[in-house]
Amino acid sequence: MLNMSIFPGGGAPSGPFHLPTPFSISSVESDNERTKTFTLNASLNAMPGQFVMAWLPRFDEKPFSLVAADPVTLMVTAVGPFSNLLHRLQPGDLLWIRGPFGNAFRLPRPGLRAAFVGGGYGVAPLLWLARAWLPKLNALTVIIGARTSEDLLYIERFDALPEAVRGSAATMETFTRTEDGSAGVPGLVTDQLEAHVSEGELDLICACGPHGMLAAIDRLGEKFSVPRQLSWEAYMRCAVGICGSCELNGSVLCLDGPVLEHGGV
Ligand SMILES: Cc1cc2nc3c(=O)[nH]c(=O)nc-3n(C[C@H](O)[C@H](O)[C@H](O)COP(=O)(O)OP(=O)(O)OC[C@H]3O[C@@H](n4cnc5c(N)ncnc54)[C@H](O)[C@@H]3O)c2cc1C
Ligand code: FES
Repeated sequence: MLNMSIFPGGGAPSGPFHLPTPFSISSVESDNERTKTFTLNASLNAMPGQFVMAWLPRFDEKPFSLVAADPVTLMVTAVGPFSNLLHRLQPGDLLWIRGPFGNAFRLPRPGLRAAFVGGGYGVAPLLWLARAWLPKLNALTVIIGARTSEDLLYIERFDALPEAVRGSAATMETFTRTEDGSAGVPGLVTDQLEAHVSEGELDLICACGPHGMLAAIDRLGEKFSVPRQLSWEAYMRCAVGICGSCELNGSVLCLDGPVLEHGGV
């Protein structure tokens, strides 16, 4: 196990970091069988919706949404070689990051009624967004979905948002949907969203999750003329607009995204 800092004095260094920079992991929490939350001994000047590139030397580098920037916190679901290797890291081990990259969610004006919709690890940036925006919103509807109850993430963290933050919005409600009905109401997050959007309860939808979910939310928002800010995923390599690997429908997601605005605000 490695435990070192390249920063003299031992304090938590603060970015942006333009090159991969090693930080020790201060804690690893298990969220479910496939997902862990890593906290690093570092802080970043960043906003909810932005991401960092995490690097394991001689192996690979992949993008991860910031769950928080101070200290830097990342949620990792193990789906393949890189994320499985990340899951083997322990407190005291080093992880190299560079960033922050991309744009953030943007609050057009205070007093809105917003819905935050997260699928799988898509909830990662939404928890920080709730903490940042709740004091400025009129109402917040949080909708979290997954295939099964085992895959639902961060429900407790949303419930545990400090009373000072939760109480600052006129209302905050959290709904869960699972495809197999093992928790919350059976069905998709879009079923829950439609119930709110069709009643004219929403001014803005912010969402992060799989492409199919985002595409369905986009269609729903378009049908009911509700603006959406959707955080899209793509394969990223440079993260600074050079390689073109993250192109999605003409947008370079590492620069123009990952949050794209749909339907005007
Ligand atoms: C802007 C941005 C933010 C991201 N934020 C996060 C984050 O907060 N947390 C996080 O865990 N990942 C996040 N990702 C995805 C992450 O970068 C990697 O793609 C992921 O960790 C898989 O890498 P891998 O090398 O382990 O597996 P890969 O070899 O890339 O994937 C292995 C296989 O799993 C499939 N797969 C990929 N993702 C999933 C999934 N969610 N469920 C089921 N199968 C899947 C792939 O299609 C492939 O077949 C983000 C991506 C982007 C672009
Ligand atoms: S990752 Fe290289 S252009 Fe976006």
